Amino acid sequence: MIGLLLLSQAAAIAIGCVLGVIVAGQICACICLVVRYVRHSEKTQQPIPAFPAEQPAQPETTVATDTATESGSDLILKVTDLKQWFPVGKSFFGKPQGFLRAVDGVSFELERGKTIGIVGESGCGKTTLGRTILRLYDITEGSAIYTDTEGKQYELAKLTRKQLRPLRTQLQLVFQDPYSSLPPRMTVGSIIGEAVKVHHIVPKSEVHDYVLEVMRRCGLQPHYYDRYPHEFSGGQRQRICIARALAVKPNLVICDEPVSALDVSIQAQVINLLKKLQREMGISYMFISHDLSVVKYISDTIAVMYLGDIVEKGSTADICTNASHPYTQALFSAVPVPNPHRKAKPEELEGELPSPANPPQGCKFHTRCKHCMACCEETAPQMREISPGHFVACHLFDLQEDVTESDEKE
Ligand SMILES: Nc1ncnc2c1ncn2[C@@H]1O[C@H](COP(=O)(O)OP(=O)(O)OP(=O)(O)O)[C@@H](O)[C@H]1O
Ligand code: SF4
Ligand SMILES: [Mg+2]
Repeated sequence: MIGLLLLSQAAAIAIGCVLGVIVAGQICACICLVVRYVRHSEKTQQPIPAFPAEQPAQPETTVATDTATESGSDLILKVTDLKQWFPVGKSFFGKPQGFLRAVDGVSFELERGKTIGIVGESGCGKTTLGRTILRLYDITEGSAIYTDTEGKQYELAKLTRKQLRPLRTQLQLVFQDPYSSLPPRMTVGSIIGEAVKVHHIVPKSEVHDYVLEVMRRCGLQPHYYDRYPHEFSGGQRQRICIARALAVKPNLVICDEPVSALDVSIQAQVINLLKKLQREMGISYMFISHDLSVVKYISDTIAVMYLGDIVEKGSTADICTNASHPYTQALFSAVPVPNPHRKAKPEELEGELPSPANPPQGCKFHTRCKHCMACCEETAPQMREISPGHFVACHLFDLQEDVTESDEKE
């Protein structure tokens, strides 16, 4: 009798356990459903409008604005309020906890056949700007209009991957590091010829001669054709990278610190090569560097970047002889003076570059600026034209303008 009782109790416990497991399983499934639903609804409510990789088909050309300047010059690139924000961290529900504003509202124009130099200290967003224009990243916000040689305009921000493909030869990139950007198992001839074949730049039977011609233009001997990248010096490797970029007949080349890894005499050779090729082929360059002495030698215009923004832009002469933003002045004071009788007085920038994930309020430079005023901590300065074609974003120039306005009223 007792045995029967124990048996029935054990059976009841076993049934209870099974039921408990089933109920617990159902509760877990409900929680999972709720979490998935919340995640999905959060994903669809991202605060930052990021263009998806593949967008619905757009018309082949997207003419957004007239890219001709007031002087009627021919613009190859017009960038307006361009932003590249990277998500930082993820909450339990997969929502980004913040955004790193690598490029935060950049605007500039580049004339066909000219060079714009982009300068700024490490981490200010130069590389990200170049890669965003080339659509190696999807553009978070803003516009980048490229105009080809026939006058067709392309809004790069809105093109799908498929629509971008035919533009890939026209827009090229030369990297900083000539060591890692060349495939070690391919010969120079095949490295330069690969894209020529893929994009049918010349008929197949002419590829060999065409590659030799490109190599000659870039100062590479014909017998280098069958050699491998490890057999070359840094300067020669950078020439191979330049030859590879130019072989597909680009209109715009973004050179990301192309000479930073080279010694000074080789730097001069590579820069002179880029200038010669620009004269011969009418290429436009966006030349990224942290070295002002190099940038001022090659550029027609210069844009100075700080923490994702352009703080000053203008002709090379304006920027070099009349640097007006306190940050540009500090950068120039650090450039060595080629005069033994004049002592350079490097103006040390106080503190570190703040994090672009949490930039300072107001003027982003106010934490390091020796001219900082109360308004600088609260309000971001607007870009102002201080002389024709020379723009500065600094409250010091608001004051000058206010003083001039009040003088005029009096
Ligand atoms: N893919 C990425 N994801 C997240 N953050 C990134 C990414 N690429 C760059 N960043 C961040 O964006 C900021 C700008 O980086 P970027 O490489 O553009 O600077 P830079 O001006 O080219 O610096 P350097 O002169 O050292 O090359 C940095 O804070 C960097 O950490
Ligand atoms: S706005 Fe103010 S803090 Fe910013 S650079 Fe000008 S003076 Fe300095
Ligand atoms: Mg860089």
